[in-house]
Amino acid sequence: MSYISIHGGRVLEGKVNVQGAKNSILPILAACLLCHQPCTIHRCPKISDVSACVRILRHLGCVVTWNEHSLTVDPRGLCCTQIPDELMSEMRSSIVFLGALLARCGETALSFPGGCELGPRPIDLHLSALTQLGAVVNEEGGVLQCRADKLSGCEIVLPIPSVGATENIMIAATAAKGTTVIRNAAREPEIVDLACFLNRCGAKINGCGEGTVQIEGTGPLFGCEHTVIPDRIVAATYMAAIAVSGGKGELSPVIPQHVSPVLPFFRQSGCTADFKGNRLLIKAPKRLRSMQHIVTGYFPGFPTDAQPALMAMAAVSDGTGIFIENIFENRYNHVHDLTRMGAKIKAEGRMAVVEGVPTLSGCRVKACDLRGGAALVVAGLAAAGETQVHNVGYIQRGHQDIVADLAKLGADIKTIR
Ligand code: UD1
Repeated sequence: MSYISIHGGRVLEGKVNVQGAKNSILPILAACLLCHQPCTIHRCPKISDVSACVRILRHLGCVVTWNEHSLTVDPRGLCCTQIPDELMSEMRSSIVFLGALLARCGETALSFPGGCELGPRPIDLHLSALTQLGAVVNEEGGVLQCRADKLSGCEIVLPIPSVGATENIMIAATAAKGTTVIRNAAREPEIVDLACFLNRCGAKINGCGEGTVQIEGTGPLFGCEHTVIPDRIVAATYMAAIAVSGGKGELSPVIPQHVSPVLPFFRQSGCTADFKGNRLLIKAPKRLRSMQHIVTGYFPGFPTDAQPALMAMAAVSDGTGIFIENIFENRYNHVHDLTRMGAKIKAEGRMAVVEGVPTLSGCRVKACDLRGGAALVVAGLAAAGETQVHNVGYIQRGHQDIVADLAKLGADIKTIR
């Protein structure tokens, strides 16, 4: 099995391109099913979660073609409403196909979605919302049998602003009769991007990025061309990589508002981080300082997906860092291996206390999930000797080119096959 080998200690410097956002492209690809014409999505990242999504679209009868970083989905040949278990279990976001297939075909049968192990990730909010829109959902032997002879707009109040549930409702409500209002909707930039895509295809969605979203049902959509937003989590990961190396770099494109929840922590650690348009220039001190408490939350709170990379930074900072993880129960999988590399971290329940050390030591570590795996790569850049990161499949779910990008910045990093 291949692994990533890193010899730490190099100071990173240079320019790096930020790929399109994984969490935008996945619901957008599912939403293509609502269209009666082809859609072309630009800046599409070549990651394994996108490949899994493409396999689902092809299984359903869509014609999907790549042209460099543009992906065209022609949904006119849609001929199937069921998604088998082996395709569903590849990723968590396959659940957005539920809303898309109900909207387009009025029925679907699919199993529970897969995804990284971050503790229990229920789909009760998705099912309850779709039921409120008129769907009938039955579970038989692990398969969700869903029907909706008619979807009708209504008011849906989410008890928590779930990203996936908000996306499923937006997609399904586009095909509903009347207006749907989502209260306590997720406000993540990826929600706004999905609305932008749907509106370009003829949908009428307002209020995205705010707590209340209104969707006027419009029926079948046209096709469109859309460029997905840059991946704010990949940007934060590369910033952390540059920071732990004591280097400097330019990341682009980066949308300032999208990374505003993470920027203060880089500045507290002694980095300068300034924008020139959509180029982010970051310069790190020789030794990072400790950051204030990092408390993860819904946007515009600190993103849970960036928590592992910033923990790798805290591990080599001067001082103590405190993390409180509020979104997922099991999001400290990376702590075990960071500790094996010499980090001083105590994690219990939702809290982790990180006492920074001057340097880590490379060893053989294993990614347990996508973001935790990327954090081990970041830690490897600050470690003496060789770090081998195994289970790279998790990292490839969301990173198109982490090895080539960091090598371009001067890291001694390669994939060993
Ligand atoms: C999305 C992102 C993921 C990110 C997360 C939080 C995608 C593909 N993934 O995941 O990278 O970490 O948002 O920003 O966009 N919950 C329920 N019931 C439900 C749905 C969710 O209890 O039906 C809970 C979850 O267990 C979790 C919290 O709500 O504790 C937030 O989950 P949610 O916002 O739905 O995350 P995802 O859409 O799965």
